[in-house]
Amino acid sequence: MKKISLTGIKPTGTPHLGNYLGAIRPALALSETYETVYFIADYHALTTVHNGLEMHDNIHKVAATWLALGLDPEKGLFYKQSDIPEIFELSWALSCFTPKGFMNRAHAYKDKVAKSLATGEDADSNVNMGLFCYPCLMDADILMFNADIVPVGKDQKQHVEFARDVALRFNKQFGKAIFTVPEAIIQENTDVIPGLDGRKMSKSYDNYIDIFLDSKSLKKKIGKIVTNSQEMDEPKDPEICNVFKLYKLFASQEQSDALAARYRAGGMGWGHAKAELQSVLEEHLGVARDRYFDLIAHPEKIDSILRAGAEKARPIARENMDRIREVLGVGKSY
Ligand code: ADP
Ligand code: TRP
Repeated sequence: MKKISLTGIKPTGTPHLGNYLGAIRPALALSETYETVYFIADYHALTTVHNGLEMHDNIHKVAATWLALGLDPEKGLFYKQSDIPEIFELSWALSCFTPKGFMNRAHAYKDKVAKSLATGEDADSNVNMGLFCYPCLMDADILMFNADIVPVGKDQKQHVEFARDVALRFNKQFGKAIFTVPEAIIQENTDVIPGLDGRKMSKSYDNYIDIFLDSKSLKKKIGKIVTNSQEMDEPKDPEICNVFKLYKLFASQEQSDALAARYRAGGMGWGHAKAELQSVLEEHLGVARDRYFDLIAHPEKIDSILRAGAEKARPIARENMDRIREVLGVGKSY
């Protein structure tokens, strides 16, 4: 039997190249060798997205992105988290096995507290309970479907470690292997994709490049990548250049070597390097972009795929939840 690879993406905005390289592409590559469970973590997004129309829109964007990039909904599972209520039931059960001290140490929570304290606010003034309990919901996402591996970006490693911990704790408490103990899979060369300003590409820094943009908008975005003030004829170091860092993640080895040589030789301006990046992005993502815009223009297609996905995933979740309820002593649901 194939092992299970599971990952989720929050619908908090337009998916960007960091999400693609750090999460979506590695996850899709695993579909050859693993049974896949990929989903839209909309109730995780609810910790920050409090506008219904925006949430609805973001869900469609994330679903269309997965599908356009090659996720085959016939293979494995593909659903929206909120369509599987058993996940929330499990989240509660797991929270009762999670030491509060762990949640105090969760990076996202700690960062918020540190920011509030730095601006003289109360430590918890910007923290809702959803954010505080976020890791427990993620534990439930992962453990419900018995994931063996969880492909994620580096920033999510701690969350997967929490899931491992609670799985072990639970299994020990009840003396049997109820949950599979998951492992995070982090690709080394794409662990932190740089954004326009060289910091980690992120919606929170507003330094991202959307995965799918028409050529004109893409050119405008690429134009904003921060470079140094070296003149055209000066030799340049590709390894410290934000344009090149992105380029080599998409280009072949030969293409990268060729562009690096042009950097080092001098005589190449930033405009040329940016045009090369645009060309490699168009080459890599052009076909998927057409599929994406077609899906976005037909949201009913997306909805029907998600509905079918929920119908396939829910009986599995229900059966697992029944097993867990039995162990907890609350009995099967009716
Ligand atoms: P954002 O920082 O834009 O809010 P998310 O937190 O929604 O992005 O990330 C979704 C997934 O994409 C996660 O698995 C995360 O690790 C990955 N990811 C996001 N940004 C990057 C990046 N710059 N480099 C590598 N992976 C990333
Ligand atoms: N927390 C993840 C993120 O910020 C999204 C996510 C939710 C997830 N549930 C998950 C990722 C389960 C992997 C497995 O990107």
